[in-house]
Amino acid sequence: MPVFELKNVNYLYLNSIPALNDISLSIEQGEQVAVLGANGSGKSTLLKLLDGLIFSSSGVAKAFGKILTENMLDGDGGDFPQFFRKKVGLIFQNSEAQLFCPTVLDEIKFGPLQLDISKEDINQRVNDVMEMLNIENLKDRAPYTLSGGEKKKVAIASVLSINPDILLLDEPTNGLDPRTQRWLVELLIELRKTGKTIIIATHDLDIVEEVSERAVVFSEDHRIVADGKAQAILNDTELLLKVNLIHEHYHRHKEILHRHRHAHSSEHNHNHSD
Ligand SMILES: Nc1ncnc2c1ncn2[C@@H]1O[C@H](COP(=O)(O)OP(=O)(O)O)[C@@H](O)[C@H]1O
Ligand SMILES: [Mg+2]
Repeated sequence: MPVFELKNVNYLYLNSIPALNDISLSIEQGEQVAVLGANGSGKSTLLKLLDGLIFSSSGVAKAFGKILTENMLDGDGGDFPQFFRKKVGLIFQNSEAQLFCPTVLDEIKFGPLQLDISKEDINQRVNDVMEMLNIENLKDRAPYTLSGGEKKKVAIASVLSINPDILLLDEPTNGLDPRTQRWLVELLIELRKTGKTIIIATHDLDIVEEVSERAVVFSEDHRIVADGKAQAILNDTELLLKVNLIHEHYHRHKEILHRHRHAHSSEHNHNHSD
């Protein structure tokens, strides 16, 4: 059973502004998927829908075989809401929108406190996550006083402390300095190895191959126009130009990069035809 299964899903903001257009998509446990598309194409809307924050205007969106509806995720859902919240974690594009506690420590504890686990286990988890992200020194700080990169780390910690099987990340490298970006990519590579399902919305094509095997591409009219191997999609310059993910300048830049990579692999193959 796929973890997420969408069939002909449409989403309209305010009953009138289209954001998802006839989306059919199936994601299996343990997959790493990049969701690519220009600004405004619908990436964040998709992640919010997968996180059960909004619900399809028409069509059917299922998680773990259950249809996601507002009722399902509140009082009428029985054990499902608790199960779902434990399974799925969304890291928002804007960390500020995710942080609301007086201190970093409270922030990271907040999720686990909602779960049915012992105080000792909560403290253990919180400490593990702080150590993993190297933010122990920030634990007594007020989140609003942190730098952008620090806020991002705390937001990630506040989700990882719930230990969700499925991580949704919205433009995770946006606004981070190069070193923090690199750190984040390394973290995603580590998380990949633990078998988590990871879905990353991004227009940062440079990170795609490292963090995902599969890519789903949105057009500017909010449809999925490609779904396949990340590498093949990244090499499809015509497609990337059409959906406004690259422009001519970037195009040439990518070609140089590609040629470089190609030359590199030829070397290994003792093939000098390049
Ligand atoms: N809260 C909102 N109210 C109205 N329209 C919105 C809202 N959020 C997003 N939209 C619109 O929905 C479309 C998809 O947006 P979004 O999912 O944020 O795209 P992306 O994340 O790919 O940039 C855009 O046309 C955007 O203007
Ligand atoms: Mg977005």
